[in-house]
Amino acid sequence: MRVLVAGASGAIGTRLVPHLIDAGHEVIGTHKSAASAERLRALGAEPLQLDLLDPDAVTGAVLAQKPDAIVHQATALANLTDLKNFDRSFHQTNQLRTRGTDALLAAAQDAGVRRFVAQSYASLKYARTGGMVKSEDDPLEENPAAAMRETVAAMCYLEQKVSAAGGTALRYGAFYGADNDGLVEPVRKRQFPIVGGGGGVLSFIHLDDAAAATVLALEHNGPAIYNVVDDDPAAVREWLPVLAQALGAKRPRRVPRWLARLLAGEVAVVMATESRGASNAKAKRELGWTLRYPSWRTGFVAAYASSVRAHREGGRLVDPVSAART
Ligand SMILES: NC(=O)c1ccc[n+]([C@@H]2O[C@H](COP(=O)([O-])OP(=O)(O)OC[C@H]3O[C@@H](n4cnc5c(N)ncnc54)[C@H](OP(=O)(O)O)[C@@H]3O)[C@@H](O)[C@H]2O)c1
Repeated sequence: MRVLVAGASGAIGTRLVPHLIDAGHEVIGTHKSAASAERLRALGAEPLQLDLLDPDAVTGAVLAQKPDAIVHQATALANLTDLKNFDRSFHQTNQLRTRGTDALLAAAQDAGVRRFVAQSYASLKYARTGGMVKSEDDPLEENPAAAMRETVAAMCYLEQKVSAAGGTALRYGAFYGADNDGLVEPVRKRQFPIVGGGGGVLSFIHLDDAAAATVLALEHNGPAIYNVVDDDPAAVREWLPVLAQALGAKRPRRVPRWLARLLAGEVAVVMATESRGASNAKAKRELGWTLRYPSWRTGFVAAYASSVRAHREGGRLVDPVSAART
């Protein structure tokens, strides 16, 4: 198929492009900044600079490129640090998930595009009641923390619009598998603590497994929603010390809920203490997806071994095991 990947130069897009090419597809990779073009060309995609928030440009590009399929992976999450003002930090991403999705879906309809797959997220959306691991049929959170209402609404909007158009929404777990993953620096600097009992559950997904599931989703008819997460949803108190060790960092600190609320805001507390994980049973069953990294327990070590070797402290290599003990 001729596949247009919107947001091809980001964390998931750059893993997805080679997976698509290996599967025999031809890829047009869109990007926002001019600097991303060469990277996409090197990966084997035809680069196309496109602002998804410009609907006329999107329609023009899709009509000109005539793709068989579109994958929407555009976000604006680089350098995200301020969780306290969550919706403000996610504003541009929310626009890409609402107006950007509308523009792509309208263009897809005009151009007769057969398949449409879009990025959503698993952990923040499920209701914070009942079991700790949710399937796609479980209820969504009706009363998200005030600071993240727009963000949750934007993800729900995307899923509804994409499903209504016969497409597929992928509720990815938390991405890892790149040296610059969002959790790496805060965990290395001991700025990511265990809050309260650390009982909030998170589902992770290695970027390569996420890319593999996305290629499979393109080969299936929608409408559909899939959790694209690993086999091992886990509480923060379980996974955070393992991540710190894999990064050669000191053990995470522990802070009470009230202090975390003061420093990082309500969303951070909810995520750390109440959020739910997700089950990948449906994606495995219906897409025939198998994971290379079924658990973050081994995935973190595989992902960060080379970066730990390169991360020197005072000119010597950090030994992750002894660093974590200190
Ligand atoms: N499920 C998850 O855990 C999850 C999901 C998404 C992101 N993240 C994390 O967030 C961090 C940043 O993500 P990222 O590397 O993917 O970068 P990003 O800044 O979120 O960009 C993603 C893609 O969207 C494109 N884009 C941005 N604004 C656009 C616009 N207005 N119109 C069209 N395309 C636009 C970018 O193009 P340019 O490259 O040209 O700017 C890029 O191709 C990473 O650590 C990533 O792992 C996590």
